[in-house]
Amino acid sequence: DAKQPYEHILVSRPAHGVGLITLNRPKALNALNSPLFEELNKAAEELDNDHSIGALVLTGSDRAFAAGADIKEMKDKTYSDVFGNRFLESWTKIQNLRKPIIAAVSGYALGGGCELALMCDIILASPTATFGQPEINLGVIPGGGGTQRLIRSIGKSRTMELVLTGRNFSAVEAESWGIVSKVVGEGEGQVVKEAVQLAEKIAGKGRLAVQAGKEAVNAAYELTLAEGLNFERRLFHGLFATHDQKEGMSAFAEKRKAKFTHS
Ligand code: CAA
Repeated sequence: DAKQPYEHILVSRPAHGVGLITLNRPKALNALNSPLFEELNKAAEELDNDHSIGALVLTGSDRAFAAGADIKEMKDKTYSDVFGNRFLESWTKIQNLRKPIIAAVSGYALGGGCELALMCDIILASPTATFGQPEINLGVIPGGGGTQRLIRSIGKSRTMELVLTGRNFSAVEAESWGIVSKVVGEGEGQVVKEAVQLAEKIAGKGRLAVQAGKEAVNAAYELTLAEGLNFERRLFHGLFATHDQKEGMSAFAEKRKAKFTHS
């Protein structure tokens, strides 16, 4: 498609207020090389800054969300290459988006692919989704946040088992541990369809409240309970300065649907 400015990803707007990024290196099962990540960061930033967009969806193909960092690209790198060039540091950009980003995972989400999904705010999985942190089999460990994010959601014993054996885990396991919010029904494209519907629903809310909600939930990773409760309450107070708070509460009192203007 000549209109697509990217080589390794596709960007579209499949529903009102929704930006969809599709990883598109099918021959390498969407292995995450540097050019792909550069494009992903650029597209995500553009959608994050686009006032017509309220939520993002990130997906891959039916066969692979992403099979990890590109092993062929990494294979011959030296310590001075990776340390000197801050290898993988650019991956953190996805976690700093203001707008919600939903991962729609089908097929392999391994290594960096699993970590990329974990950076997203919500994960929906198809029944075929296969997660794992297999880096131990390559003589390394996860480098995109896997050890830190997994332990915060599934606990130490499970995280240790996964990181130290490199075994895969299923969509059903991921859901039962709370990593995945829902395993969708079978069928090609079903997970993307549901993720887009979910994103559209979120995009219909007041954007300032959505941004504050995301910030408050993420703050729980960093703050003590007392600090977190205080932070949440301050954000809650701050929303009383918005038009959407007046509109949302008036609409309730007047028994009508709120019309948010994101202001
Ligand atoms: N990097 C580079 N190329 C990859 C890749 C990766 N992570 N994963 C798959 N590919 C390539 C394969 O080399 C193959 O290319 P060729 O056709 O040129 O040989 C193509 O994609 C198709 O893969 P397979 O033939 O292997 O397909 P399969 O169905 O037999 O197996 C698989 C699928 C089990 C996912 C297997 O490809 C695999 O094990 N991939 C590697 C998974 C992995 O170890 N990921 C972790 C990477 S390290 C990391 O991510 C570090 C970090 O923390 C950031």
